[in-house]
Amino acid sequence: MTASPAPAREPLKFAYWVPNVSGGLVVSKIEQRTDWGYDYNVKLARLAEDNGFEYALSQVRYMAGYGAAYQHESTSISLAIALATERLKVIAAIHPGLWQPGVLAKLVASSDQYTHGRFCVNVVSGWFKDEFTKMGEAWLEHGERYRRSEEFIRYLREIWTSDHAELSGDFYRLHDFDLKPKPYDVPGRPHPEIFMGGNSTDARGMGGRVTDWYFMNGNTPEGISEQVQDVTDVATVHGRTVKFGVNGFMVARESEAEARRVVQDIIDQADVEAVEGFGSAVKQAGQSTGDKKGMWQDSDFSDLVQYNDGFRTGLVGTPEQIATRILEYKKVGANLMLLGFLHFHEEVEFFGKHVLPIVRELEAVELERVG
Ligand SMILES: Cc1cc2nc3c(=O)[nH]c(=O)nc-3n(C[C@H](O)[C@H](O)[C@H](O)COP(=O)(O)O)c2cc1C
Repeated sequence: MTASPAPAREPLKFAYWVPNVSGGLVVSKIEQRTDWGYDYNVKLARLAEDNGFEYALSQVRYMAGYGAAYQHESTSISLAIALATERLKVIAAIHPGLWQPGVLAKLVASSDQYTHGRFCVNVVSGWFKDEFTKMGEAWLEHGERYRRSEEFIRYLREIWTSDHAELSGDFYRLHDFDLKPKPYDVPGRPHPEIFMGGNSTDARGMGGRVTDWYFMNGNTPEGISEQVQDVTDVATVHGRTVKFGVNGFMVARESEAEARRVVQDIIDQADVEAVEGFGSAVKQAGQSTGDKKGMWQDSDFSDLVQYNDGFRTGLVGTPEQIATRILEYKKVGANLMLLGFLHFHEEVEFFGKHVLPIVRELEAVELERVG
């Protein structure tokens, strides 16, 4: 069946990547006026909420490798950022397989209470095999990682919404479990929002069946549209709706030539060894998918310089060009743009002052056009 996702009438939402991992968002030796530390991140979060960002997405990384020597833990930095801000919603990335889901459900419920309903999770199924094996945990093959993630999400939902949670699965079990307190009571929100990252066929099925949001790596509008369609088809069969987020690395400058030169400099100064190591690890992680549809399976060297194919989204140029491009993603079903930057503090502000107002103008024109 084919369900057509109607372009959302609501304003697009914006999230930024929390730089809680050293080395920034590009695997390059270029100067990045971005810091992975706590103080920098608190200031960034405050700037972001004052410049139109509704969400902050943290990264989960436990071990050095591929240009990321230091990392702050995802759930704790998310909570720290939320407590330092007033409106920003934080999305903590977590790996099923490294958490007992009841423990994570408890942590999120409490964090959601402390932040008055501003805590969300991003369920990531993992690409970094060494992180699992070096902690003595089994590394499951691709489809099994997703089966486990899906069960994990069902468990979270059950435990957050039921006073007598019951579940008997292949990976996790619940016996008349009653979590107190439940997450914060936000009218119209049944539980903290559940995001996911992953673009393979396994990921699309899981997104359609159980998640609230589906994050995509950077891609063309056509590549995004294809996934929106697939996930929406699955969701429709299950009587659900899923919202979509698109990753993009934004380089907004006074002129297009200047912006393009920045991207070229990032790529020219790439840390070749780290990019190649990252490329082979992520491609290996998806090898067991027969159709080779996952994230990074067709990424080339320059795509991989930005961890999540962010150059492919083409958010490079003047504020007008970028705003116009962003609207193309909205038209194919994006509800949220997830943005990364070279110099976060400066560019988050530049986005809020110069790009976002044009996005809002274009949205108003589009609304008038469709009536
Ligand atoms: C927006 C986004 C954020 C992600 N964040 C993380 C992360 O913080 N840590 C991590 O190990 N993987 C992260 N992933 C990657 C997933 O764990 C997974 O390896 C990847 O999505 C490949 O899945 P696929 O083969 O289904 O495409 C992220 C993916 C996306 C799209």
